[in-house]
Amino acid sequence: MKQPERLPDFPTGGCAVVIGGSGGIGRAIAVQLAERGCDVALNYFSGPGRAEETAELVRGAGREVHVAKVDLRDEAVVKEFVDDASDHFGGVHTVVYAAGPYIPMRFISQQPASAFREVMEHDAFGCYHLIQAALPRLRTSKGSFTALVTPAIRRNAVRDILSAAPKAAIEQLVKAVAAEEGRFGVRANAVGVGVITDGLYHALVESGDFDQRFLDASRQVMALKRLGTADEVAEAVVFLASARARWITGQTLMVDGGYAI
Ligand SMILES: NC(=O)c1ccc[n+]([C@@H]2O[C@H](COP(=O)([O-])OP(=O)(O)OC[C@H]3O[C@@H](n4cnc5c(N)ncnc54)[C@H](OP(=O)(O)O)[C@@H]3O)[C@@H](O)[C@H]2O)c1
Repeated sequence: MKQPERLPDFPTGGCAVVIGGSGGIGRAIAVQLAERGCDVALNYFSGPGRAEETAELVRGAGREVHVAKVDLRDEAVVKEFVDDASDHFGGVHTVVYAAGPYIPMRFISQQPASAFREVMEHDAFGCYHLIQAALPRLRTSKGSFTALVTPAIRRNAVRDILSAAPKAAIEQLVKAVAAEEGRFGVRANAVGVGVITDGLYHALVESGDFDQRFLDASRQVMALKRLGTADEVAEAVVFLASARARWITGQTLMVDGGYAI
């Protein structure tokens, strides 16, 4: 019997844009995309050091990389970054939103409105700016958009409103993009990241927000009884971004060890 032709996972031309590529999860995504043959454009926000480390890993995987500073709150800067990446690599076939600010974990009664406003500016508005900059490029390439969210948008997690509220907005943006842009061949999906031992984890442990009691309780409610890794999250992101997921759009895949069940 003749085997059906297997499409390549990603096009040979153009690049993948990873916003948050200097972060723990963004780095794992950038490297896995490079290992699957993608050139990568990635950003940093607070300092170039971690972005350069990611860039070295992308080069080590044999791909080209473009690095620039981007503050997601600045719409014009976000557009310039996506346009530059497209000009540099000859298009953009994949856009991944893997950014977000540090989130202090407090009860709403202890959280000033200014903290809520600030996180919405970085995260929800930042993602909106990225989507607006990316859509013309993704229409041309019939590409995909994938955003990191959190399982706390399904199962409430106390003291986590600064993560859950913007991510709920982002999940709705992803669904709307999927519904509106599907006719142009553009797909959009989200990945809900459970408690993992990479990225923000280190700062949360250092600040005491993730103490032993919290980590033990998190493990206990997960079906798989262990914390995850950035690589495990990246596997799901890269699958959803790839042609293997070509008939999947508007979905949120929880990669959380069974936390949100
Ligand atoms: N790690 C977890 O357990 C977990 C769980 C659920 C959801 N998430 C979400 O997953 C995403 C990535 O998390 P992570 O663990 O990889 O965090 P991370 O290591 O702290 O990385 C965050 C990334 O976002 C960038 N960033 C922050 N504010 C920005 C802004 N205004 N403009 C542009 N870039 C900005 C950072 O750049 P610089 O490093 O240059 O500042 C960094 O690249 C976040 O949205 C986080 O909320 C993480």
